[in-house]
Amino acid sequence: MSDGLEDVVAAETVLSEVDGKKGVLIIRGRSLDELAGRTRFEDVTRLLWDGFFDDLPDDLTAPLAAARAEVFGEVAALDTGLLDRTPVEAMRALTARLADGDDLATALRLAAAPAVFTAAVVRAQAGEAPVRPDPSLGHSADILQMLTGRPPEKGHANALDTYLVTVSDHGLNASTFAARVIASTRAGLGSAVLGGISALKGPLHGGAPGPVIEMLDGIAHPANARAWLEAAIARGDRLMGFGHRVYRVRDPRADALKGAVRRLSEGSNTGRLAFAEAVEAAALAILREKKPDRPLDTNVEFYTALLLEALGLPPSAFTCVFAMGRVAGWIAHAREQVAGGRLIRPQSRYVGPWPKQAA
Ligand code: CMC
Repeated sequence: MSDGLEDVVAAETVLSEVDGKKGVLIIRGRSLDELAGRTRFEDVTRLLWDGFFDDLPDDLTAPLAAARAEVFGEVAALDTGLLDRTPVEAMRALTARLADGDDLATALRLAAAPAVFTAAVVRAQAGEAPVRPDPSLGHSADILQMLTGRPPEKGHANALDTYLVTVSDHGLNASTFAARVIASTRAGLGSAVLGGISALKGPLHGGAPGPVIEMLDGIAHPANARAWLEAAIARGDRLMGFGHRVYRVRDPRADALKGAVRRLSEGSNTGRLAFAEAVEAAALAILREKKPDRPLDTNVEFYTALLLEALGLPPSAFTCVFAMGRVAGWIAHAREQVAGGRLIRPQSRYVGPWPKQAA
Protein backbone atom coordinates (compact mmCIF):
# COMPACT_ATOMS: atom_id res chain seq x y z
CA MET A 1 0.00 0.00 0.00
CA SER A 2 1.28 3.47 -0.90
CA ASP A 3 1.15 5.85 2.07
CA GLY A 4 -0.81 8.95 1.10
CA LEU A 5 -1.62 7.18 -2.22
CA GLU A 6 1.66 8.53 -3.56
CA ASP A 7 2.24 7.25 -7.13
CA VAL A 8 -1.28 5.77 -7.34
CA VAL A 9 -2.98 6.80 -10.60
CA ALA A 10 -6.65 7.21 -9.61
CA ALA A 11 -8.10 8.92 -12.69
CA GLU A 12 -7.52 9.64 -16.35
CA THR A 13 -8.03 13.28 -17.20
CA VAL A 14 -7.84 15.62 -20.16
CA LEU A 15 -7.71 18.62 -17.81
CA SER A 16 -4.15 19.06 -16.57
CA GLU A 17 -0.76 17.39 -16.35
CA VAL A 18 1.75 17.98 -13.56
CA ASP A 19 5.28 16.85 -14.44
CA GLY A 20 6.99 16.80 -11.07
CA LYS A 21 10.43 15.93 -12.42
CA LYS A 22 10.61 18.66 -15.06
CA GLY A 23 8.55 21.23 -13.14
CA VAL A 24 5.97 21.65 -15.90
CA LEU A 25 2.23 22.30 -15.64
CA ILE A 26 -0.04 21.86 -18.67
CA ILE A 27 -3.68 22.93 -18.53
CA ARG A 28 -5.85 21.52 -21.35
CA GLY A 29 -2.96 21.42 -23.81
CA ARG A 30 -1.54 24.85 -22.93
CA SER A 31 1.59 25.41 -20.88
CA LEU A 32 1.34 27.59 -17.79
CA ASP A 33 3.70 30.08 -19.50
CA GLU A 34 1.21 30.47 -22.36
CA LEU A 35 -1.70 31.05 -20.00
CA ALA A 36 -0.44 33.00 -16.98
CA GLY A 37 -0.55 36.76 -17.47
CA ARG A 38 -2.22 36.41 -20.87
CA THR A 39 -5.55 34.81 -20.01
CA ARG A 40 -8.52 35.86 -17.89
CA PHE A 41 -10.27 33.61 -15.37
CA GLU A 42 -13.34 33.47 -17.64
CA ASP A 43 -11.18 32.12 -20.49
CA VAL A 44 -9.41 29.40 -18.50
CA THR A 45 -12.78 28.36 -17.09
CA ARG A 46 -14.14 28.10 -20.67
CA LEU A 47 -11.07 26.06 -21.61
CA LEU A 48 -11.48 23.67 -18.66
CA TRP A 49 -15.25 23.24 -19.09
CA ASP A 50 -15.12 22.74 -22.88
CA GLY A 51 -16.91 19.53 -23.81
CA PHE A 52 -18.41 19.02 -20.34
CA PHE A 53 -21.58 21.09 -20.86
CA ASP A 54 -23.72 20.88 -24.02
CA ASP A 55 -24.78 24.52 -23.83
CA LEU A 56 -21.42 26.14 -23.00
CA PRO A 57 -21.26 29.61 -24.65
CA ASP A 58 -18.10 30.80 -26.43
CA ASP A 59 -17.57 33.58 -23.91
CA LEU A 60 -18.30 33.14 -20.21
CA THR A 61 -17.84 36.83 -19.30
CA ALA A 62 -21.53 37.80 -19.28
CA PRO A 63 -22.88 34.48 -17.88
CA LEU A 64 -20.37 34.60 -15.01
CA ALA A 65 -21.26 38.25 -14.30
CA ALA A 66 -24.96 37.27 -14.21
CA ALA A 67 -24.11 34.42 -11.82
CA ARG A 68 -22.27 36.85 -9.50
CA ALA A 69 -25.37 39.03 -9.39
CA GLU A 70 -27.56 36.00 -8.69
CA VAL A 71 -25.50 34.58 -5.80
CA PHE A 72 -25.14 38.05 -4.24
CA GLY A 73 -28.74 37.49 -3.03
CA GLU A 74 -27.38 34.94 -0.51
CA VAL A 75 -25.10 37.53 1.13
CA ALA A 76 -28.11 38.65 3.20
CA ALA A 77 -27.79 35.32 5.08
CA LEU A 78 -24.43 36.41 6.51
CA ASP A 79 -25.36 36.60 10.20
CA THR A 80 -23.22 37.44 13.22
CA GLY A 81 -22.67 33.74 13.96
CA LEU A 82 -20.96 33.30 10.61
CA LEU A 83 -18.91 36.47 11.02
CA ASP A 84 -17.15 34.93 14.04
CA ARG A 85 -15.87 32.13 11.79
CA THR A 86 -12.78 32.21 9.59
CA PRO A 87 -13.46 33.65 6.11
CA VAL A 88 -13.19 30.21 4.49
CA GLU A 89 -15.72 28.71 6.93
CA ALA A 90 -18.14 31.60 6.37
CA MET A 91 -17.66 31.45 2.58
CA ARG A 92 -18.22 27.67 2.64
CA ALA A 93 -21.42 28.08 4.69
CA LEU A 94 -22.86 30.57 2.20
CA THR A 95 -21.86 28.32 -0.71
CA ALA A 96 -23.73 25.46 0.99
CA ARG A 97 -26.93 27.52 0.70
CA LEU A 98 -26.87 27.24 -3.11
CA ALA A 99 -29.01 24.54 -4.72
CA ASP A 100 -27.15 21.43 -5.86
CA GLY A 101 -27.32 20.28 -9.47
CA ASP A 102 -25.34 19.31 -12.53
CA ASP A 103 -26.26 21.91 -15.12
CA LEU A 104 -24.35 24.90 -16.45
CA ALA A 105 -26.40 27.40 -14.41
CA THR A 106 -25.42 25.57 -11.20
CA ALA A 107 -21.78 25.45 -12.33
CA LEU A 108 -21.73 29.20 -13.00
CA ARG A 109 -23.28 30.01 -9.61
CA LEU A 110 -20.69 27.80 -7.90
CA ALA A 111 -17.85 29.43 -9.88
CA ALA A 112 -19.08 32.86 -8.78
CA ALA A 113 -19.72 31.88 -5.16
CA PRO A 114 -16.21 31.98 -3.61
CA ALA A 115 -15.58 35.40 -5.20
CA VAL A 116 -18.84 37.07 -4.16
CA PHE A 117 -19.05 35.50 -0.69
CA THR A 118 -15.40 36.08 0.22
CA ALA A 119 -15.62 39.76 -0.67
CA ALA A 120 -18.78 40.15 1.40
CA VAL A 121 -17.31 38.25 4.39
CA VAL A 122 -14.04 40.22 4.37
CA ARG A 123 -15.94 43.52 4.26
CA ALA A 124 -18.46 42.48 6.92
CA GLN A 125 -15.66 41.36 9.25
CA ALA A 126 -14.17 44.86 8.83
CA GLY A 127 -17.58 46.39 9.66
CA GLU A 128 -18.28 47.44 6.05
CA ALA A 129 -21.39 46.88 3.92
CA PRO A 130 -21.15 44.46 0.98
CA VAL A 131 -20.51 45.87 -2.49
CA ARG A 132 -22.85 44.68 -5.26
CA PRO A 133 -21.22 42.91 -8.24
CA ASP A 134 -20.83 45.10 -11.33
CA PRO A 135 -21.75 43.27 -14.57
CA SER A 136 -19.69 45.69 -16.67
CA LEU A 137 -16.47 44.38 -15.10
CA GLY A 138 -14.52 41.20 -15.77
CA HIS A 139 -14.45 38.64 -12.96
CA SER A 140 -11.11 39.68 -11.43
CA ALA A 141 -11.78 43.42 -11.62
CA ASP A 142 -15.18 42.85 -10.01
CA ILE A 143 -13.67 40.77 -7.19
CA LEU A 144 -11.30 43.64 -6.38
CA GLN A 145 -14.10 46.21 -6.55
CA MET A 146 -16.37 44.04 -4.35
CA LEU A 147 -13.50 43.82 -1.83
CA THR A 148 -12.45 47.46 -1.73
CA GLY A 149 -15.49 49.39 -2.95
CA ARG A 150 -13.25 51.11 -5.53
CA PRO A 151 -12.33 50.34 -9.15
CA PRO A 152 -9.10 48.30 -9.14
CA GLU A 153 -5.75 50.05 -9.50
CA LYS A 154 -3.84 49.70 -12.76
CA GLY A 155 -2.46 46.21 -13.24
CA HIS A 156 -4.33 44.71 -10.27
CA ALA A 157 -7.06 42.90 -12.23
CA ASN A 158 -4.43 41.38 -14.54
CA ALA A 159 -2.38 40.27 -11.51
CA LEU A 160 -5.42 38.61 -9.93
CA ASP A 161 -6.26 36.93 -13.25
CA THR A 162 -2.67 35.63 -13.38
CA TYR A 163 -3.16 34.09 -9.94
CA LEU A 164 -6.62 32.60 -10.60
CA VAL A 165 -5.48 31.09 -13.92
CA THR A 166 -2.26 29.73 -12.36
CA VAL A 167 -4.16 27.84 -9.65
CA SER A 168 -7.23 26.89 -11.74
CA ASP A 169 -6.25 23.23 -12.05
CA HIS A 170 -3.40 21.01 -10.91
CA GLY A 171 -3.83 17.30 -11.56
CA LEU A 172 -5.25 15.10 -8.83
CA ASN A 173 -4.42 17.32 -5.84
CA ALA A 174 -6.20 16.55 -2.55
CA SER A 175 -9.17 18.91 -3.04
CA THR A 176 -9.72 17.82 -6.66
CA PHE A 177 -9.58 14.17 -5.62
CA ALA A 178 -12.13 14.90 -2.87
CA ALA A 179 -14.35 16.64 -5.45
CA ARG A 180 -14.07 13.68 -7.84
CA VAL A 181 -14.92 11.15 -5.10
CA ILE A 182 -18.05 13.12 -4.24
CA ALA A 183 -18.99 13.60 -7.91
CA SER A 184 -18.57 9.85 -8.48
CA THR A 185 -21.55 9.22 -6.17
CA ARG A 186 -23.64 11.55 -8.44
CA ALA A 187 -24.18 13.88 -5.46
CA GLY A 188 -24.02 17.03 -7.64
CA LEU A 189 -21.60 19.84 -8.41
CA GLY A 190 -22.46 21.80 -5.25
CA SER A 191 -21.51 18.86 -3.06
CA ALA A 192 -18.28 18.33 -5.02
CA VAL A 193 -17.32 22.01 -4.66
CA LEU A 194 -18.05 22.01 -0.91
CA GLY A 195 -15.82 18.94 -0.55
CA GLY A 196 -13.14 20.74 -2.54
CA ILE A 197 -13.27 23.82 -0.31
CA SER A 198 -13.09 21.64 2.80
CA ALA A 199 -9.99 19.77 1.62
CA LEU A 200 -8.36 22.95 0.37
CA LYS A 201 -8.49 24.76 3.71
CA GLY A 202 -5.89 22.55 5.42
CA PRO A 203 -2.41 24.02 5.92
CA LEU A 204 -0.77 21.21 3.92
CA HIS A 205 -2.80 22.19 0.84
CA GLY A 206 -4.41 25.62 0.33
CA GLY A 207 -4.06 26.97 3.84
CA ALA A 208 -0.32 27.67 3.57
CA PRO A 209 -0.08 31.24 2.16
CA GLY A 210 -1.50 32.96 5.26
CA PRO A 211 1.23 31.31 7.43
CA VAL A 212 3.83 32.41 4.82
CA ILE A 213 3.01 36.03 5.76
CA GLU A 214 3.27 35.12 9.47
CA MET A 215 6.71 33.65 8.72
CA LEU A 216 7.84 36.77 6.84
CA ASP A 217 6.49 39.01 9.60
CA GLY A 218 8.21 36.86 12.25
CA ILE A 219 11.55 37.11 10.43
CA ALA A 220 11.07 40.87 9.77
CA HIS A 221 14.65 41.45 8.48
CA PRO A 222 16.88 39.36 6.15
CA ALA A 223 19.57 39.22 8.84
CA ASN A 224 17.16 37.24 11.08
CA ALA A 225 16.20 34.72 8.42
CA ARG A 226 18.71 31.98 9.08
CA ALA A 227 18.27 31.87 12.87
CA TRP A 228 14.45 32.06 12.63
CA LEU A 229 14.20 29.31 10.01
CA GLU A 230 16.70 27.03 11.76
CA ALA A 231 14.74 27.34 14.99
CA ALA A 232 11.54 26.45 13.13
CA ILE A 233 13.12 23.31 11.63
CA ALA A 234 14.61 22.39 15.04
CA ARG A 235 11.08 22.55 16.53
CA GLY A 236 9.95 20.14 13.79
CA ASP A 237 7.86 22.78 11.97
CA ARG A 238 7.32 22.72 8.21
CA LEU A 239 8.49 25.78 6.34
CA MET A 240 5.33 27.05 4.67
CA GLY A 241 5.60 27.60 0.93
CA PHE A 242 8.24 24.86 0.47
CA GLY A 243 8.02 21.20 -0.52
CA HIS A 244 5.49 19.41 -2.68
CA ARG A 245 4.08 15.92 -3.07
CA VAL A 246 4.67 15.87 -6.83
CA TYR A 247 7.31 18.48 -7.69
CA ARG A 248 10.88 17.40 -7.04
CA VAL A 249 12.07 20.67 -8.58
CA ARG A 250 10.79 24.22 -8.34
CA ASP A 251 7.00 24.53 -8.70
CA PRO A 252 6.50 26.36 -12.04
CA ARG A 253 3.61 28.29 -10.52
CA ALA A 254 6.04 29.99 -8.11
CA ASP A 255 7.78 31.81 -10.98
CA ALA A 256 4.53 32.69 -12.77
CA LEU A 257 3.39 34.40 -9.57
CA LYS A 258 6.76 35.94 -8.77
CA GLY A 259 6.66 37.57 -12.23
CA ALA A 260 3.22 38.99 -11.42
CA VAL A 261 4.49 40.37 -8.07
CA ARG A 262 7.44 41.97 -9.86
CA ARG A 263 5.20 43.62 -12.50
CA LEU A 264 2.88 44.87 -9.75
CA SER A 265 5.62 46.32 -7.59
CA GLU A 266 7.53 48.05 -10.39
CA GLY A 267 8.61 51.42 -9.07
CA SER A 268 7.21 50.85 -5.59
CA ASN A 269 7.52 48.39 -2.73
CA THR A 270 10.34 46.46 -4.43
CA GLY A 271 11.84 46.11 -0.93
CA ARG A 272 9.19 43.55 0.08
CA LEU A 273 10.02 41.36 -2.94
CA ALA A 274 13.77 41.62 -2.28
CA PHE A 275 13.16 40.66 1.36
CA ALA A 276 11.04 37.67 0.33
CA GLU A 277 13.74 36.55 -2.11
CA ALA A 278 16.31 36.69 0.69
CA VAL A 279 14.07 34.60 2.97
CA GLU A 280 13.45 32.14 0.13
CA ALA A 281 17.20 31.74 -0.50
CA ALA A 282 17.86 31.18 3.23
CA ALA A 283 15.02 28.65 3.48
CA LEU A 284 16.24 26.67 0.46
CA ALA A 285 19.78 26.57 1.84
CA ILE A 286 18.57 25.35 5.25
CA LEU A 287 16.25 22.73 3.73
CA ARG A 288 19.15 21.41 1.64
CA GLU A 289 21.31 21.16 4.78
CA LYS A 290 18.73 19.79 7.22
CA LYS A 291 16.67 17.60 4.88
CA PRO A 292 19.31 16.33 2.43
CA ASP A 293 17.35 13.16 1.61
CA ARG A 294 14.40 14.94 0.05
CA PRO A 295 14.51 17.65 -2.64
CA LEU A 296 12.46 20.50 -1.16
CA ASP A 297 11.94 23.58 -3.31
CA THR A 298 9.68 26.62 -3.41
CA ASN A 299 6.00 25.86 -4.05
CA VAL A 300 3.13 28.00 -5.33
CA GLU A 301 2.17 29.28 -1.89
CA PHE A 302 5.29 31.35 -1.21
CA TYR A 303 4.69 33.89 -3.99
CA THR A 304 0.92 33.53 -3.69
CA ALA A 305 1.31 35.16 -0.31
CA LEU A 306 3.35 38.05 -1.75
CA LEU A 307 0.97 38.59 -4.66
CA LEU A 308 -2.24 38.53 -2.64
CA GLU A 309 -0.66 40.80 -0.03
CA ALA A 310 0.32 43.28 -2.79
CA LEU A 311 -3.30 43.22 -3.98
CA GLY A 312 -4.36 44.30 -0.49
CA LEU A 313 -6.05 41.06 0.51
CA PRO A 314 -5.99 40.05 4.18
CA PRO A 315 -3.98 36.84 4.85
CA SER A 316 -7.01 35.34 6.62
CA ALA A 317 -8.76 35.24 3.22
CA PHE A 318 -5.91 33.84 1.09
CA THR A 319 -7.36 30.30 1.06
CA CYS A 320 -10.67 31.71 -0.16
CA VAL A 321 -8.88 33.36 -3.09
CA PHE A 322 -7.28 30.00 -3.92
CA ALA A 323 -10.81 28.55 -3.99
CA MET A 324 -11.93 31.36 -6.38
CA GLY A 325 -9.47 29.94 -8.95
CA ARG A 326 -9.54 26.20 -8.20
CA VAL A 327 -13.36 26.06 -8.33
CA ALA A 328 -13.08 26.06 -12.15
CA GLY A 329 -10.97 22.89 -11.99
CA TRP A 330 -13.16 21.17 -9.37
CA ILE A 331 -16.24 21.63 -11.56
CA ALA A 332 -14.46 20.37 -14.68
CA HIS A 333 -13.14 17.31 -12.81
CA ALA A 334 -16.56 16.59 -11.32
CA ARG A 335 -18.13 16.67 -14.78
CA GLU A 336 -15.35 14.52 -16.22
CA GLN A 337 -15.80 11.99 -13.40
CA VAL A 338 -19.54 11.73 -13.99
CA ALA A 339 -19.13 11.52 -17.77
CA GLY A 340 -16.67 8.66 -17.84
CA GLY A 341 -15.92 7.37 -14.36
CA ARG A 342 -17.43 4.79 -12.03
CA LEU A 343 -18.15 5.19 -8.32
CA ILE A 344 -14.80 5.67 -6.53
CA ARG A 345 -14.76 3.07 -3.80
CA PRO A 346 -11.33 1.70 -2.85
CA GLN A 347 -10.63 -1.02 -0.30
CA SER A 348 -9.05 -0.79 3.14
CA ARG A 349 -7.03 -3.49 4.87
CA TYR A 350 -8.44 -4.33 8.33
CA VAL A 351 -5.74 -4.28 11.04
CA GLY A 352 -8.05 -4.08 14.12
CA PRO A 353 -9.02 -6.84 16.57
CA TRP A 354 -11.19 -9.76 15.47
CA PRO A 355 -14.27 -10.88 17.46
CA LYS A 356 -13.57 -13.81 19.79
CA GLN A 357 -14.83 -17.16 18.44
CA ALA A 358 -17.83 -18.49 20.41
CA ALA A 359 -16.64 -21.40 22.59
N1 CMC B 1 9.57 22.11 5.62
C1 CMC B 1 10.35 21.23 6.27
N2 CMC B 1 10.36 19.93 6.02
C2 CMC B 1 9.56 19.48 5.03
C3 CMC B 1 8.76 20.34 4.30
C4 CMC B 1 8.77 21.71 4.62
N3 CMC B 1 8.00 22.59 3.98
N4 CMC B 1 8.06 19.61 3.39
C5 CMC B 1 8.44 18.33 3.55
N5 CMC B 1 9.34 18.26 4.53
C6 CMC B 1 10.02 17.07 5.02
C7 CMC B 1 9.20 16.38 6.07
O1 CMC B 1 9.46 16.88 7.33
C8 CMC B 1 9.63 14.98 5.86
O2 CMC B 1 10.83 14.77 6.50
P1 CMC B 1 10.86 14.05 7.93
O3 CMC B 1 10.05 12.81 7.77
O4 CMC B 1 12.30 13.84 8.14
O5 CMC B 1 10.23 15.02 8.89
C9 CMC B 1 9.87 14.84 4.37
O6 CMC B 1 10.11 16.14 3.91
C10 CMC B 1 8.74 14.22 3.64
O7 CMC B 1 7.54 14.91 3.96
P2 CMC B 1 6.08 14.36 3.60
O8 CMC B 1 5.10 15.07 4.44
O9 CMC B 1 6.07 12.88 3.60
O10 CMC B 1 5.95 14.77 2.10
P3 CMC B 1 4.62 15.13 1.37
O11 CMC B 1 4.77 14.76 -0.03
O12 CMC B 1 3.41 14.57 2.05
O13 CMC B 1 4.61 16.72 1.57
C11 CMC B 1 3.68 18.87 1.59
C12 CMC B 1 4.05 17.65 0.74
C13 CMC B 1 3.25 20.01 0.68
C14 CMC B 1 2.51 18.50 2.48
C15 CMC B 1 4.89 19.30 2.44
O14 CMC B 1 6.00 19.60 1.62
C16 CMC B 1 4.60 20.47 3.38
O15 CMC B 1 4.06 20.25 4.46
N6 CMC B 1 4.92 21.75 2.96
C17 CMC B 1 4.61 22.90 3.78
C18 CMC B 1 3.14 23.30 3.58
C19 CMC B 1 2.91 23.91 2.22
O16 CMC B 1 3.69 24.72 1.74
N7 CMC B 1 1.77 23.50 1.61
C20 CMC B 1 1.39 23.98 0.30
C21 CMC B 1 1.60 22.91 -0.74
S1 CMC B 1 1.58 23.53 -2.40
C22 CMC B 1 -0.09 23.85 -2.69
C23 CMC B 1 -0.75 22.73 -3.35
O17 CMC B 1 -0.43 22.42 -4.51
O18 CMC B 1 -1.61 22.13 -2.68
